[in-house]
Amino acid sequence: MGNVAFDFAGRTVVVTGSARGIGKELARAYAGAGATTYLLDFDADAVHAAADEVGGTGFAVDVADSAAVAEAVNEIVSSSGRLDVVVNNAGILRDKMLWKLTDDDWSAVLGVHLTGTFNLTRAAVPQFREQQYGRVVNVTSYTGLHGNVGQAAYAAAKAGIIGFTKTAAKELAGFGVTVNAISPNAETRMIASIPKEKLEELTAQIPARRFAAPSEMAAAVQFLSTEEAGYITGVVLPVDGGLSM
Ligand SMILES: NC(=O)c1ccc[n+]([C@@H]2O[C@H](COP(=O)([O-])OP(=O)(O)OC[C@H]3O[C@@H](n4cnc5c(N)ncnc54)[C@H](O)[C@@H]3O)[C@@H](O)[C@H]2O)c1
Repeated sequence: MGNVAFDFAGRTVVVTGSARGIGKELARAYAGAGATTYLLDFDADAVHAAADEVGGTGFAVDVADSAAVAEAVNEIVSSSGRLDVVVNNAGILRDKMLWKLTDDDWSAVLGVHLTGTFNLTRAAVPQFREQQYGRVVNVTSYTGLHGNVGQAAYAAAKAGIIGFTKTAAKELAGFGVTVNAISPNAETRMIASIPKEKLEELTAQIPARRFAAPSEMAAAVQFLSTEEAGYITGVVLPVDGGLSM
């Protein structure tokens, strides 16, 4: 499939969780569309390799660590002079029945997805306000909207991201900043961890009868982060082959 013709020349974009999976394909799409692209991931070796591969700059950062995120944003803004688009995509799974979830499972999952999304968005706001321009795209999930057995922490984090998205959209609308979310379905390492039978069951529920390639998430994320989409804010756009209909 060819690259969608978005133009991000002159824009600075940060994508978290971009060492692999959806995030890496998003970074590839932004770099291909001319953006100065920064890849943030806590997997240091993989994020530098991914950055070399897609034509961006890698930062080894744990998004749950607010000081490290703030420091990365400062470095990015001082070297590129701008910050236009933030994509909060980093994620982990610790799937267990809720009575088996440990304190560590709960705080790790909430820390990456929800606190990570807050950390990077908050760190970007001063630059967004100075520019009177910014685009945030968060990555939530069908599970955040509907729940799923074995995913209490993940569902809570992803539902939290929806509330955060809508609130940030309201708070930042007056500064030329939009905040939206996508709810993806894509074949990544995360999906590979689902047992085969469960995966077949899940696939049968998707009207498109397949999971997407990670690169198929890029059109929606890039669209929501164009200058032209400036009147769209606070939405959760499913990119899920019709699953959430
Ligand atoms: N794949 C799907 O179908 C699907 C469905 C719904 C939601 N999602 C969401 O999409 C996003 C991307 O998932 P994916 O399928 O590409 O998964 P993935 O496991 O392939 O990639 C996730 C990336 O996030 C990074 N990461 C994890 N914790 C981090 C941290 N603390 N700081 C920085 N980076 C961290 C990982 O190192 C990895 O590179 C996640 O938020 C996930 O919850 C995916």
